[in-house]
Amino acid sequence: MGSKNRIAKDILPIILNGKDEYNCYVEPFVGGCNVIDKVDMKNRIGADNNEYLIEMFNNLQSGVIDFPDSISKDLYDRARTYFNNGLSNEMSVAMIGWIGFMASYNGKFFDGGYNGNYKKRDYVAESIKNIRKQISDLKDVKFICSSYQTLEIPEKSIIYCDPPYQGTTQYNSSKNFNHTAFWEWCRDMSKQGHQVFISEYNAPKDFECVWQKEMTTTINHCGTLKPIEKLYRFKKQKIGE
Ligand SMILES: C[S@@+](CC[C@H](N)C(=O)[O-])C[C@H]1O[C@@H](n2cnc3c(N)ncnc32)[C@H](O)[C@@H]1O
Repeated sequence: MGSKNRIAKDILPIILNGKDEYNCYVEPFVGGCNVIDKVDMKNRIGADNNEYLIEMFNNLQSGVIDFPDSISKDLYDRARTYFNNGLSNEMSVAMIGWIGFMASYNGKFFDGGYNGNYKKRDYVAESIKNIRKQISDLKDVKFICSSYQTLEIPEKSIIYCDPPYQGTTQYNSSKNFNHTAFWEWCRDMSKQGHQVFISEYNAPKDFECVWQKEMTTTINHCGTLKPIEKLYRFKKQKIGE
């Protein structure tokens, strides 16, 4: 859930239009990196407030930790216990991240249970193969663990936000997300000269929808099997508005 892999090719030409005028591409909610991995800008920042995710990507980049190529149910259960009890002295944060993201059902980081073998498909092995392939497109991304609100953003950046969607079930680090504060932050960032884009189903009136597409999915977002993915941008204010 939440991966923008399927729409990245549709939205990136819009987000990156005019990119030469901007210094940096920033994703404050980088998640599984399924958009940033397709961005051809020299300076890229991928941030997220999930430290397990950021530590996993930092270590995939550096290769310092040798992550295992298979994850048993037993190893998964152990990592989940360490995670639930905050025991990163027993297993590194990066390793707990690797196990939680690669082996949880739907990539839901210890929220959906162990993703075992179904109908001859080995979902854990598939996730591991995909991320190992993906990492070559993330080599020079600067990964930062931060809440979007405290993230330092270089002057004149393109900011693409894929926040937890309003009204959908949230998990772990996305619970209690303040949507009003988020939209206010987007306004501020736009006024500071950044180009800000947001993926959401709905937005306040001062944001305009610049792209939309009906998706076919088996995941039930907001009570429908055909959610409409949308991309928003802050409307340029006219004098007197
Ligand atoms: C929908 S996912 C992003 C998925 C990503 N676009 C992709 O295609 O892989 C949302 C992410 O926002 C992160 N997040 C939630 N609240 C946050 C906050 N306050 N600051 C920064 N990141 C946050 C979550 O940890 C999660 O990884």
